[in-house]
Order: sequence, then C-alpha cells, then structure tokens
Amino acid sequence: MTLADQKATIARTSEAFVNANPSAETVTRAAREVLNDSAERGGGVQMLNVDKIYPGATNKALDNFNLEINPGEMVVLLGGSGCGKSTALRSLAGLEDIQAGRILVGGQDVTGVPVNKRNMAMVFQAYSLFPHMTALQNVEFGLEIRGMGKTERRKQAMEKLELVGLADQAGKYTQQMSGGQQQRVALARALAVNPRVLLLDEPLSALDAKVRVQLRDEIRRIQLEAGTTTVFVTHDQEEALTVADRIGVMNHGCIEQIADPQTLYRRPGSEYVATFIGLTNRLPGITNGEEAVVFGQRVPLLEASKRDASTVLVRPENLVITLAANDGNMVGEHGRVDMVHFLGALARVDLTVAAGVGHLPVTVQLPANELPAGLTVGSEVVVAPRPIAALAV
Ligand SMILES: Nc1ncnc2c1ncn2[C@@H]1O[C@H](COP(=O)(O)OP(=O)(O)O)[C@@H](O)[C@H]1O
Ligand SMILES: [Mg+2]
Repeated sequence: MTLADQKATIARTSEAFVNANPSAETVTRAAREVLNDSAERGGGVQMLNVDKIYPGATNKALDNFNLEINPGEMVVLLGGSGCGKSTALRSLAGLEDIQAGRILVGGQDVTGVPVNKRNMAMVFQAYSLFPHMTALQNVEFGLEIRGMGKTERRKQAMEKLELVGLADQAGKYTQQMSGGQQQRVALARALAVNPRVLLLDEPLSALDAKVRVQLRDEIRRIQLEAGTTTVFVTHDQEEALTVADRIGVMNHGCIEQIADPQTLYRRPGSEYVATFIGLTNRLPGITNGEEAVVFGQRVPLLEASKRDASTVLVRPENLVITLAANDGNMVGEHGRVDMVHFLGALARVDLTVAAGVGHLPVTVQLPANELPAGLTVGSEVVVAPRPIAALAV
C-alpha cells in the first residue's frame, strides 16, 4: 500500500471524514471544504421522524426515530443488539441515507448534506488506527488533511494526547499500544478535528472489564472538559447509567423513553424500560391505575401504568423484609429465604413466597447492616413493598 492509499484507508474508517468510497484526493478536498464550512461548533442535534430501511429489508431499522440533544450534552443510546443504535448514529453522521425525516445540527438542516461536510467525528469499537504511524501522527492526520501547518497541528495534536493522558506516548507506534491506549488515541484523533458532534459506537466493547471501567470514566471527564455534544452507543446499562446526561432506551428502531438516568430508573415509562435497566420484581397486585395493593400494602402507581393491570414492577430496594417470628403483625406476604448474597455495603435476599397459585421468586435488596439479625437460608420471613411509586403492567 502506498502512503496515499493508507491515508485514504484511515480516512475511510477514521472519525472525521468517513466516506463511502473516497480516493485520497477527494478526502483531502472534502476535508478542506469542512474547514471552509465555518458553521459554529457545539451544535445541538435534532433527528425528527427519521425512517431508515436497508435495501431488501422488510422491517425499518429506524421507525419514526426522534431524538433531540442539547449543545454539549452526552446522550447514550442504550438497547439490545439489532434495535438500531448504530443505524441511528450512522444516519446522524450521514453514513446512511434516510427514507424519511429530517436531521438538524445547530439548527441547520443537514439531511442531504454529505458525511464529509457534517463536521462530526466517530469512534468505533475497532480502534481503526493506522498501525505504522505513531500516536501523534495518527492524531495529526485529520488536521493535516485539512491543510493545517505542521507547527500548529503538532501543537493541537499534543494537546489532545495530553487530554487523553498519552502525551508521554506520543512517539509510540499504535500497534505497540494496548487496546485501551489505542482507543484513547482514537478519541484524541476524533477530538482533534474539533467536531460539532462526537459519535461513539460501543467504543469500549473490545476492551477487558477493568480497562473498560477506567476508560468509560475518562471519556466522560474528557467530554465534559471538551464540552462536545456527544452520542454514545452501548448495550451495557451500567456504562449508560454512569456516563450519560440522558439515556435514550431504544427498542425496534425508535426511542422508547429518554430521560436522565435517575428518572429512567425510578419512573420507567414502560415494562421494556423498567426491565432493561436494573432489577425488578414482578408482583401480583390489584390496581386501579392510580394505586395498587401488593402483598396487602398500598403502592402508588406511576403515570404510565396500565389501568387494568394485575402485575406491579417493584425494585428490590423498594421491598422490606422481616423475620416471620418477630414480624410485629407487619402486613405482607410470607415466604422462605432461598439465598443471601452479601455485596459489601449491600445485601440481596432471594426468597420464594407462596402468593396465590404457585410459588413466586422475590428479590429484596437492602443495606447490609439492616439485614434482620438471624436471617439466613431457610428463614421464614414476611415481605412487603414500600409506598414508592411503581409501574403496573
Ligand atoms: N447494512 C445493513 N444492511 C441490512 N440490514 C442492516 C444493515 N445494518 C444493520 N441492519 C439491520 O438493521 C437493524 C438495526 O441494526 P443496527 O443499527 O446495527 O443495530 P444495533 O447497533 O442496535 O445492534 C438490524 O435488524 C440489522 O440487522
Ligand atoms: Mg451496533
């Protein structure tokens, strides 16, 4: 491969100037045009009623997809495999044409605008770095094809490497770097071009667990520092909960609910969202749409609850448990402990209650120091919900 070919390859897979099939010249030209396209940075994003149908597909990959992102915000798209997360990201980047809807960045309609003029940067699961270039050369690359002079681009690239904590590794070839370091370089390269929007498609999934946690916290710190509007795609709920300003839970090509992590967890708008994020118990209840009676206790219901529901979703930490021997006439359901898990600060108790017909598994979570003394596997217990709003489904 000639250097030009190699650069073109990077440009194809690289964040700034992803293009369907560019030659080296078109990439360079496109990149210069990006520079001239002096639209302001830090734009918010609107994807309005977007439909995407892949050629030959029967189902829509995006089905009336709507997403609004504030400038500087980090939104995570969360959902199982195949729900359309990557398609949403690629459509926003301009890598996919859409069949309906509009996409705006900074209030500007970019629906028909080609990928190289949207001024977005993308980081993929695969590192997609040029292995025979140093970290610094990789980061400089996007600036070079924009025609930036050597001194200035070196300065800017070093700044970004510093931001990702790799200033001392600038001269190292990326093929000699660990996965985590390579992904840091990819991030630095993406940020170096000062994108209006940063797009991260499962950037951590190729890394091992420890590095994943480290880098996820770091990505959030860097994003806050750079103030770049960011869309982060993942199927990992913990990742989503820890980095997001808001999480959009995706299902079948659209966002089922979008909210800040706490709201999403405490006030899920659907059964899908409630069960996708965190643990939940499915308990039998008598409901009227506003209130339920679960295990003899009254529980307020979330607005999204079904009126004629007979199941109430109760989080493990929203249940109280006591030993049957000293229940003090607590109203609740009787059960038997199957398992006690100590999780350090927290404890989780799995039990089975004999509610109505058959046996029902129930999980209770509580601070470990509030575990009733003497509670162990086989203990007879009474369990009841707290009066905290729950979803009836
Ligand atoms: N290039 C493609 N051609 C045809 N179908 C595709 C293509 N890419 C994705 N799909 C389909 O579109 C749907 C959404 O895919 P994708 O956006 O990759 O989901 P996710 O990133 O959430 O796993 C899936 O049903 C997938 O099979
Ligand atoms: Mg994907």
